[in-house]
Amino acid sequence: MSRLIVISNRVSAPRPNDPKGAQGGLSVALAAALREYRGIWFGWSGNKVDEFTGHIDLQRHGGVTTATIDLEEQDVDEYYNGYANRTLWPLFHYRIDLAEYDRSFAGGYERVNERFAGTASPLIEPDDLVWVHDYHLIPLGAQLRERGLKNRMGFFLHIPFPPSRLMVSLPFHEGLVLSLLAYDVIGFQTEEWLESFRHYVERELGGRCEPDGTIHVGDRSVHAAAYPIGIDYQEFCEAATSERSTQAYDRLKKSADGRHTIIGVDRLDYSKGMEERFLGYRRFLEEHGDCRGKLFLLQIAPPSRGEVHTYEIIREDLDELSGRINGEFAEVDWVPIRYVNQGYAREDLAGFYRASEMALITPLRDGMNLVAKEYVAAQDPEDPGVLILSRFAGAALQMKDAILINPYSKDEISDAIHTALTMPKEERIRRWQAMNESVKNEDVVAWRRAFVGALEGAGKG
Ligand code: G6P
Repeated sequence: MSRLIVISNRVSAPRPNDPKGAQGGLSVALAAALREYRGIWFGWSGNKVDEFTGHIDLQRHGGVTTATIDLEEQDVDEYYNGYANRTLWPLFHYRIDLAEYDRSFAGGYERVNERFAGTASPLIEPDDLVWVHDYHLIPLGAQLRERGLKNRMGFFLHIPFPPSRLMVSLPFHEGLVLSLLAYDVIGFQTEEWLESFRHYVERELGGRCEPDGTIHVGDRSVHAAAYPIGIDYQEFCEAATSERSTQAYDRLKKSADGRHTIIGVDRLDYSKGMEERFLGYRRFLEEHGDCRGKLFLLQIAPPSRGEVHTYEIIREDLDELSGRINGEFAEVDWVPIRYVNQGYAREDLAGFYRASEMALITPLRDGMNLVAKEYVAAQDPEDPGVLILSRFAGAALQMKDAILINPYSKDEISDAIHTALTMPKEERIRRWQAMNESVKNEDVVAWRRAFVGALEGAGKG
């Protein structure tokens, strides 16, 4: 069997009770794949050094070998804080108003991808399958090919792919998208993002897309398809019934004191639609005065990418807005929003999800959203909670039995909260059963098998 070499910006073989691993979709999803394959997980250590040396730190964590490198301060500024999170992240989430372009960011991005290619390539043997992840490392495949690697290589994009009309706002966009064609398999979360990619290829690169997923540009043919990512269902259900999870459940139930809990869990990111969520909830409190004091919103939002200005702003805005709503509506014995800026371990979250009668997940744009899937997996089958989900999350395409809403509409959010509050138990169970089936069957194991299967078959056609 071929080894699997996974390459991503962050490397975190998740450990139980590791709060940092609690929300990272990528690390949760890859752990299961890495447990089964002999192989290496290569990436950035998260550390900065004065000068890049190319030294590789090899370690073993729970059956997974990790290989990490340190980066220079300038690398981190230009590549991670710069091109990845100031340019590509906003653009790919349809926020061209927030996307910043700077030649030095693009240069740093290329340089760090070259550094990855130069240090990773000696670790890769001819028969290895190479699987590169996410928007930080789009050009890596092409740079590995330049170093003579003929391996089967795949790329999976965890975030949306923007429509062509937005993509063309990126300076030198053709070069970036063309570099994707160095991979043999290109995976997207949903048909929608795949559609945008195919449209771009035909319109901007003069390529041809066949119905079976083959894409031809010049003399290059690659396979592009949708592989919706899932959660590790088995592992999450075990987490949800653990001792620690039960304690977390009790803690929240006790403090809720008979009130209904609406839960939201998101990295503190403008793409998650938390401001719109707070405003929709505020509309609900205005319209349903009789419900005040009977429910509260628990928003867990661990800070993220704090060196990027747009993240500082969203943090300030949410501090202010949650404070304003609480000031406006709170009573001596009730606050409408519990706004918590810290991460929790998976078991704790599973307990919180189970103790919450409703989840309010309202991203303005999201590649998939695994919190929605975890919320469903954590529910009590006899008395499940209700999921309110943005139609702009990739997960909405699989979870049609959620209450799907437009996150930009305060009225839709307010109405959805009311519908969820008054939903009969039979309907809650029926909706939950349908969603749970898909979360269980379309899990991370199915995702990994589908992608790696396609990669194994590449070049045999
Ligand atoms: C998203 C991205 C991942 C990233 C994660 C956390 O899920 O798709 O690639 O690792 O956010 O963001 P961070 O910048 O902290 O790695």
